[in-house]
Amino acid sequence: MTAQARWHVTERSVGLSSHERLLRDVQEGLTQDPPWLPARWFYDEKGSLLFDDITTLPEYYPTRRETEILTAHADDIARLSDAGALVELGSGTSTKTRLLLDALTARRPDLLFVPIDVSVEVLSDAAARTAETYPSITVEAVVADFEDPLGPLPGVAGGRLVAFLGGTIGNLNVAGRGAFLDRLRAAMDVGDHFLLGADLVKDVDRLVAAYDDSAGVTAAFNRNVIDVLRASLHADGLVADDFEHVARWNAPEGRIEMWLRARRPIRARFPELDLDWSLPAGGELLTEISMKFEVDVLRAELAAHGFQAVETWTDAAGDFSLTLSRVA
Ligand code: SAH
Ligand code: TRP
Repeated sequence: MTAQARWHVTERSVGLSSHERLLRDVQEGLTQDPPWLPARWFYDEKGSLLFDDITTLPEYYPTRRETEILTAHADDIARLSDAGALVELGSGTSTKTRLLLDALTARRPDLLFVPIDVSVEVLSDAAARTAETYPSITVEAVVADFEDPLGPLPGVAGGRLVAFLGGTIGNLNVAGRGAFLDRLRAAMDVGDHFLLGADLVKDVDRLVAAYDDSAGVTAAFNRNVIDVLRASLHADGLVADDFEHVARWNAPEGRIEMWLRARRPIRARFPELDLDWSLPAGGELLTEISMKFEVDVLRAELAAHGFQAVETWTDAAGDFSLTLSRVA
């Protein structure tokens, strides 16, 4: 078989196109108090590259900790799930996923790998490179939004492992997380497994530093969403440098919040929406939340949505968690 036949990328959109969704999110989000934007708009090509830089920052511990756990336990995960198909949500570059692919293909050389992401450039590149490194697998990459209905998933019922790594689950609020778990459960079958990476509550200074690094990469990543809005919607009056990156711990909610604070009065116009949007100097736009979890609470939440915890692993420092659960 040729390399082309072993990997392909398909685009799946349910309802709105990406552009229509951006229009809707701007119309709905920016006009609320406080104004906010869903996180998916960070990940244009430049944003995805910046995120990749974030994963290697000294302050950003989650990627290293999750890699440590996968290095120690990928074989356990492969044995316990005995999966013939790996579906990865919000897969990005799928770098850490290679640890899982190594363990899974040792048992099932003909593995089906289904990375799913909104970022088409990064996904296509990752699909091609993964297929090259693992000549025995089939890669069916899907450009899709994990906040849309997911199913039915490819692969044989009962033989799937769905991975959601990087702590991305924490970027959903409590309602969004419940809806996500319900949609995922509906797309899966009894006997399928779910591997969830979740960041844990810890010292506030370390949490804040992970989202406000000294090199300013996270700040550039956050501000990039302003460029995405301006370029995609031909908006007037939006300049990334007019905004300051703010990362703050919200103790009652147990989450880090990323905001963009106006350095001067902002007057923007979105012609396609016939919308004028303004923000006074010092006014703030909420661009991301990142929930931090307690293991017991997370396992109970999984159970409440039909996922029975099989095992939870943490790194030696207890910073990050991976929970393998089974659809009961
Ligand atoms: N899994 C990788 C990347 C995490 S960053 C890691 O652990 O390092 C979050 C990823 O989710 C990005 O690749 C981004 O493009 C993707 N993403 C964000 N929102 C999404 C959505 N609504 N649907 C699908 N993918 C999304
Ligand atoms: N899933 C990542 C996290 O919550 C995403 C992320 C890391 C992020 N750094 C960020 C999102 C900065 C927005 C801004 O850890």
